[in-house]
Amino acid sequence: MKFFDFPQFDAHEHLNIFHDHESGLNAIVAIHRRGKKFAVGGTRMKNYLNFDAALDDALRLSKAMTYKLALAGIPLGGGKSVIIGDPGKDKSPEILAAFGSCIDSLQGAYCCAPDVGTSASDMLEIRNSTPYVRGIQNETGDSSLDTAIGVFHAIRAAMKHRFSKDNLQGVRIAIQGAGNVGSHLHAMLKREGTELIIADVNNERTAALNQDGQTSVVGIEEILLQDVDIVAPCALGNVISKDVIDKMKAVIICGAANNQLIDNEVAGYLNQKNILYVPDYVANAGGVIGGCRIDCDYSEEEAMSRIERIHDTCLTIFEQSTTQGKPTPEIVNTIAESRIKDLL
Ligand code: NAI
Repeated sequence: MKFFDFPQFDAHEHLNIFHDHESGLNAIVAIHRRGKKFAVGGTRMKNYLNFDAALDDALRLSKAMTYKLALAGIPLGGGKSVIIGDPGKDKSPEILAAFGSCIDSLQGAYCCAPDVGTSASDMLEIRNSTPYVRGIQNETGDSSLDTAIGVFHAIRAAMKHRFSKDNLQGVRIAIQGAGNVGSHLHAMLKREGTELIIADVNNERTAALNQDGQTSVVGIEEILLQDVDIVAPCALGNVISKDVIDKMKAVIICGAANNQLIDNEVAGYLNQKNILYVPDYVANAGGVIGGCRIDCDYSEEEAMSRIERIHDTCLTIFEQSTTQGKPTPEIVNTIAESRIKDLL
């Protein structure tokens, strides 16, 4: 494997590959930028097809983290760790302890946090082996509420830009995923008088959100194709393809899920079709803004006002996208790149 020729390599500063014989841990830690302090980013545990697929994720997601932090004005670098294995079958106290020792050996260059396949309670276990852990419950709290608040403000901005509307009364919104973020978002949007449709693979979750019968529940295949103003993907990545766009009735896409677009071409296609896409790492930055507040020394009030400013950031992005005729992800990347230089 030629690391420096790897497609996702973007002048990453460190790549660490760990194996622990006794626990069976295989892990990768990629640090895209360390900055003046350290890099931060989630720990993904996944049964990757092969090593290259795991490396691809670590490189791609650590770079995305640098961009996300920069856009949120946070002076930390982006990193990502992946543990190769099925979280349902392979996760064990031994693997988490060994992983913690690996993180500790980096001496604070990188702090891990929960991500797909790992939880806040896993982070508590990892912290028995290293202090370089973030996203522990009751310290910076559960990030999903902050994330949902950010998505809510991004939705407000999208409605203002597209329909010159200052409130969400009567706006029709389809939420894909009734998990932690989806549930908080559902509650906030309900208070604003929106008409809500939800779908989740887990029927108990949709039932919990529809106890008063005010929310429509549809199948997971149909949720993105509903006759609504906005779709909010809050479940998985890779859900917006050209095919979905051709069948979609919504004119705004704004949700929390990472990597919503199936590939880069889709961003241009959305632009052609005049569908306003709020780039995921702008809409879902609330969690990271709340989660970094202790390291970056700002108060809870300041964190909330930064999360609320996602609204204004979105308006700037939409205006530039309209005047320059470029897809929103292109505009966001340019803004993030200009901030990286100042922040790191
Ligand atoms: P979660 O795991 O609590 O919720 C995801 C929900 O999606 C679950 O209820 C699951 O049953 C459902 N789901 C899975 N496959 C589905 C499908 N095909 N159709 C409909 N529903 C399906 O996760 P959480 O925390 O709510 O996060 C949601 C998304 O936002 C994830 O993609 C996550 O990576 C992203 N995100 C979350 C952040 C956070 O602070 N929790 C921060 C940034 C991004």
